[in-house]
Amino acid sequence: MAIKRIKSGINGLDAKIDGGFEEGSIISIIGGPGSGKSLIGMSFLYEGLKNGQTCLFVSFEEQERDIVLDMESIGFENVRKLLEDKKFIITFNSPINFEYLGVLDLIRENKVSRVVIDSLSAISMYMDDKGKFRKFMLDLVTELKKLSVTAIVTDEQPQISDSDIMYFSGEYLSDAVIKLFYTGLGGDFDRSMQIIKMRRTNNDRSMLPMRIDKGGIYVK
Ligand SMILES: Nc1ncnc2c1ncn2[C@@H]1O[C@H](COP(=O)(O)OP(=O)(O)OP(=O)(O)O)[C@@H](O)[C@H]1O
Ligand SMILES: [Mg+2]
Repeated sequence: MAIKRIKSGINGLDAKIDGGFEEGSIISIIGGPGSGKSLIGMSFLYEGLKNGQTCLFVSFEEQERDIVLDMESIGFENVRKLLEDKKFIITFNSPINFEYLGVLDLIRENKVSRVVIDSLSAISMYMDDKGKFRKFMLDLVTELKKLSVTAIVTDEQPQISDSDIMYFSGEYLSDAVIKLFYTGLGGDFDRSMQIIKMRRTNNDRSMLPMRIDKGGIYVK
């Protein structure tokens, strides 16, 4: 079966990943505080919204009001109208004992095409045991795949060893892993993005300078 690609919503990225994200894939966006994880998720959903798709933002960190303001601040228009029309759905959840079954129902009932879960670190923080989180991730990824939605999951850059990252964050379960870097030094590499893996894709491997501006996120 031919791979169907969908636009990422990040200006300049699709040319570096064979035309876009694979439809139905799960993409992990990893980065430290303020590196742009949430805005990448919002840009990805906004691309779907512009094309008439129903999109879901599952938030653990920011309330709906803040998400709307974030999106408006980078020039995304009609966000409030899309919310009123139920084309854009935002749920704000407590990470304590989070159950994703409600999310699966929302996806089914509203025929959602694109989902963002922001962030996994919020959920894992309340799961004391690594095995439990691993099982949670495996189940979640399996269920999302069954529904054939394309999903972005964000994760903080863990300050622990590489083996823990693989074990704990669920990167190995995702089809794609994109890392964000933020130096705060200004200049071309103030922000950058690196595609660590993207299954079935001849992706660019270099550090891509990244910029957040009116119109969204730009990479070159
Ligand atoms: N309108 C804007 N124009 C330019 N840069 C912006 C704009 N809005 C936000 N930013 C930049 O993006 C950063 C926030 O990005 P975002 O919220 O996506 O990061 P994050 O990785 O999700 O952070 P956190 O760890 O706090 O969740 C801000 O700190 C700011 O530097
Ligand atoms: Mg965020």
